[in-house]
Amino acid sequence: MSDNHKLLNNPHKTAAGYAHEIKNPITAVRGLLQLLANPDLPALKRSLYTEIAIEELDRANGLLYEMVHNNPPANRQETTNMKEAITKTTLLFEQAIQSKNLQLETFFAGNFNVQIPKQQLAQVLANILKNAIEASRANGRITISAYTERQFGIISIKDNGPGISPEALDMLFTPYFTTKRTGTGLGLSICQSIIHEANGQITVHSEFDAGTEFIVKLPIC
Ligand SMILES: Nc1ncnc2c1ncn2[C@@H]1O[C@H](COP(=O)(O)OP(=O)(O)OP(=O)(O)O)[C@@H](O)[C@H]1O
Ligand SMILES: [Mg+2]
Repeated sequence: MSDNHKLLNNPHKTAAGYAHEIKNPITAVRGLLQLLANPDLPALKRSLYTEIAIEELDRANGLLYEMVHNNPPANRQETTNMKEAITKTTLLFEQAIQSKNLQLETFFAGNFNVQIPKQQLAQVLANILKNAIEASRANGRITISAYTERQFGIISIKDNGPGISPEALDMLFTPYFTTKRTGTGLGLSICQSIIHEANGQITVHSEFDAGTEFIVKLPIC
């Protein structure tokens, strides 16, 4: 398959897609190091942030392995605990959330596993949460909820930012569509291709000046 064709169907499997996805763990480690630089950080948080920073470097390494070998690492875990995945993603963005003084709330209705590799769910959650943080005004609110509906696990990521125009909504999942000065416009197209590959769905509801909600639906195991 040519890289151009891949970009439309599987943007997460192109060189540009991997580069985009390797940036997220690097940015996360940077944020964690900034938090770790605080001498008053409690010991428990210090060890938690250190552990997560190491895991994120391993994640970046895993993506590089997959890119170079054109194959995921052999020990890839195929199911993922939703609560753990969400908790970890929110920690990765703690520094960004604090610096904008955002209020982040999480609600878990039940504890369940979904059929998607842990690494890939991490990519999807990171891209959606990153967008929500970038869209939020100072002191804004982001709400993440996870629940089940029949044989599906659902996650909703909602912000009270400026919302998305109807024209932009039509283009949202198209590779390289961006309204940001420094955006690459790959985040959501990568999320969509990962979720479709896992037999799930990703939808968005947005209201001008009121906020945006992304809903990800994945089969439960
Ligand atoms: N929560 C949100 N609120 C408002 N607009 C959003 C939100 N999420 C996505 N968007 C819009 O969707 C566009 C595409 O998002 P996408 O994540 O694919 O690319 P990007 O964020 O612009 O760049 P990057 O490749 O760095 O992620 C954004 O430029 C923005 O206009
Ligand atoms: Mg983005």
